[in-house]
Amino acid sequence: MNLQRVCLLGGAGFVGRHLIYRLAERGYRVRVPTRRRERHRDLMVLPDLELIEADIHDPKTLCRLFADCAAAVNLVGILNEKEHNGRGFYHVHVELAHKIAAACHKQNVKRLLHMSALNADARNGPSFYLRSKGQAEDFLHNTRDLHVTSFRPSVIFGPEDRFFNRFAKLLRLAPLLPLACPRARFAPVYVDDVARAFVHALQDRCSFGRRYDLCGPHTYTLSQLVEYTASVIGARRRVIGLSDFLSRCQARIFEYLPGKPFSWDNYQSLRVDSVCRGGFPFGIQPTPLEAAVPGYLTHKTSRSRYAAYRSHA
Ligand SMILES: NC(=O)c1ccc[n+]([C@@H]2O[C@H](COP(=O)([O-])OP(=O)(O)OC[C@H]3O[C@@H](n4cnc5c(N)ncnc54)[C@H](OP(=O)(O)O)[C@@H]3O)[C@@H](O)[C@H]2O)c1
Repeated sequence: MNLQRVCLLGGAGFVGRHLIYRLAERGYRVRVPTRRRERHRDLMVLPDLELIEADIHDPKTLCRLFADCAAAVNLVGILNEKEHNGRGFYHVHVELAHKIAAACHKQNVKRLLHMSALNADARNGPSFYLRSKGQAEDFLHNTRDLHVTSFRPSVIFGPEDRFFNRFAKLLRLAPLLPLACPRARFAPVYVDDVARAFVHALQDRCSFGRRYDLCGPHTYTLSQLVEYTASVIGARRRVIGLSDFLSRCQARIFEYLPGKPFSWDNYQSLRVDSVCRGGFPFGIQPTPLEAAVPGYLTHKTSRSRYAAYRSHA
């Protein structure tokens, strides 16, 4: 029985929820701060999970959260910011990384697992998202006395994902779908494979200082993924791939719609293919999306039914 405590920042989100289960399975005690505890009531029933409402941007609070922890995990990330100037990305990705390193130092937490993103690059990343992710990653890996492992996934799929579920929703509503950046390439990776990689790394000293790209076994264009989604949900829809010019126009307009369904920064991120060169680490065989997506898009598995109930609640 492993009684070590791990603090999971961003642990109530999509990836975090899967990681909680994998950590609990290994006997870890998990502490999850969240901005709104009530929203995640379903997590409160889990034994050995502390769900704490907290402002993780406050250094003193962060220090308290890391007390008695053997390791910290940073899953906090945003795909869009309220502003249009990169400040929001910098605040959530880079400034928080600095606060995490300081809190680890104060609480003598020596181990940190950090979620970055494929193509994150402090200098050459084409978007605020990818540059800020790269800056956070570089800063943490250069922090003394902290054993950091970073994970750089392509798009992640799984029951509560915001990729296939979102396209399925759009395809159910609209008779045709104008799709920006249709030729952008992805190697979608299964959320539970990502969670398993985190748990392996936590127990493996060889992963100290390493940065792992995480991809699924196959590569697809965005257009292929959307057409696949339509076929899975049985929607006979026309997917119209937009030219680069029209993709830019869509990004410029959607950037100002409520909820920013697509932004200029998203468009910039899509300019680099989200695919890996090497294989999946830790001997894990990555799950093909065809083995998981139909189960949750058509609500045929009990887990996906729970996810649907949660989102309707
Ligand atoms: N999903 C993907 O396809 C994908 C691909 C590549 C990389 N990633 C990275 O993987 C990580 C987890 O992704 P996910 O899909 O699980 O995201 P998610 O479901 O949105 O969860 C992110 C978590 O971050 C916390 N968070 C977000 N903004 C915050 C802010 N301003 N202040 C404090 N906390 C904040 C939220 O915590 P509360 O709301 O509970 O407070 C949330 O639980 C992110 O770093 C993301 O960039 C994801």
